[in-house]
Amino acid sequence: PVLVVDFGAQYAQLIARRVREAQVYSEVVPHTATRDEILAKNPSAIVLSGGPASAYSPDAPGMDPELAKSGVPIFGICYGFQVLAQALGGTVEATGNREYGRTEVHIPADGGILHRELPERHQVWMSHGDSVTKPPAGAKVTATSEGAPVAAYENVDDRIAGVQYHPEVLHSPHGQEVLRRFLHDIAGIKPQWTTASIVEEQIARIREQIGEDGRAICGLSGGVDSAVAAALVQRAIGDRLTCVFVDHGLLRTGERAQVERDFVAATGVNLVTVDARERFLGALAGVTDPEQKRKIIGREFIRVFEQAERDLKAQGDYRFLVQGTLYPDVVESGGGTGAANIKSHHNVGGLPEDLQFELVEPLRLLFKDEVRRVGLELGLPETIVHRQPFPGPGLGIRIIGEVTADRLETLRAADAIAREELTAAGLDRDIWQCPVVLLADVRSVGVQGDGRTYGHPVVLRPVSSEDAMTADWTRLPYDVLERISTRITNEVPEVNRVVLDVTSKPPGTIEWE
Ligand code: XMP
Repeated sequence: PVLVVDFGAQYAQLIARRVREAQVYSEVVPHTATRDEILAKNPSAIVLSGGPASAYSPDAPGMDPELAKSGVPIFGICYGFQVLAQALGGTVEATGNREYGRTEVHIPADGGILHRELPERHQVWMSHGDSVTKPPAGAKVTATSEGAPVAAYENVDDRIAGVQYHPEVLHSPHGQEVLRRFLHDIAGIKPQWTTASIVEEQIARIREQIGEDGRAICGLSGGVDSAVAAALVQRAIGDRLTCVFVDHGLLRTGERAQVERDFVAATGVNLVTVDARERFLGALAGVTDPEQKRKIIGREFIRVFEQAERDLKAQGDYRFLVQGTLYPDVVESGGGTGAANIKSHHNVGGLPEDLQFELVEPLRLLFKDEVRRVGLELGLPETIVHRQPFPGPGLGIRIIGEVTADRLETLRAADAIAREELTAAGLDRDIWQCPVVLLADVRSVGVQGDGRTYGHPVVLRPVSSEDAMTADWTRLPYDVLERISTRITNEVPEVNRVVLDVTSKPPGTIEWE
């Protein structure tokens, strides 16, 4: 693999994704990894990320000069560019020339390989206070900027190169090209990480893990990750995989049918749907506190899943459990290997650790965009592959007040209209998601036809986000809002008011509960 050494900025994962976009497999390693640990992974190249430290301060995380001279191709970015220079006899100083944001670089006539044929002056994204003032011994300077006398260097013979700017961000329009040239033309790595090769490799791994006659079960949530994980395992072991889908009655219109029909049609998977609607409604009766609702839903979910698991075990030895864990979860939990413990935030409803399974995690090397491409490659429909996030507790946490069957019907009807109109307006890919929330304990006066109504408001909560950690409210076009509002108030008798949530996150969360 190409190893991306994380020097503590938020860019390492993005760099790893960009390397993969150049069709080269990459992994993120912490800067605390030792030379031996790094070399043991047999890297085809090393990319050093940016970071917040000053390269010359005594406690700054550095670059082992022995590693720098080990013959492995190395590319330094920003801080990584500076520590690499330092490790190879260059100099880094605080020149007083800081550059933040859009900056122009100048490419000399002999621009080397990285910037060959790129415009003589072009825009890049800089973020540095210190600068390299002398490149590594034997390297030539292949870009300059006003604040950085050495904005790029390369030593093609030793396969060492780097840039002061951030090639991984979109504000450096030629950045991906530069990264690609390092990987393909300087490091000489063949671009082989394609969706087809990912599928092939993962299927081989799954077969190896599960063996000739092992059986696996997979909890389907209706979301992208569990669907793609299940589809991969199904490709690998066929009907020795059984999927379990728990209908807790808190789903949106069409969701169960989508799993039962579209997913099964695309994969031919064995599917067991457990109808647990009564059970969940019973458990939620009289409950209004959000955290209590979440706990009850999680608890009931586990009970139903365990029962399904016992039923299946009576039919055969289901020793493996498929989970849709993604690479960012793996990196964030320290990159540990082996059977990871089950983390509550990415598994279906939070399955307990004492379920006696060996985990199969076919997505644990993949980023979300790769997961979607794998899904498409496996023939899953767009409706599944590009599905927006939907919380495990479902509509249970979108009814403010007690959850009842009638209220669920009301919310489902309003939600279906909002989704239909957003899809019709072509906005599905522009928004992260748009929860519709029923204020079931609030009543509002209205007038409809000749009469007074005393109904409930629903809230539209359209948000834009990259990762759900922060979000902004989406400025939906007024005509779309108008259609949603008119249709909901006309078609859903219990609702006589539609309001728009214009709160970002923070301070609001995306969901209301
Ligand atoms: P919040 O409300 O915390 O939501 O801003 C962030 C994102 O997470 C989703 N969400 C959940 N997803 N189980 C899930 O699988 C949950 O319990 C849960 N709660 C919130 C929410 O829809 C949003 O995308």
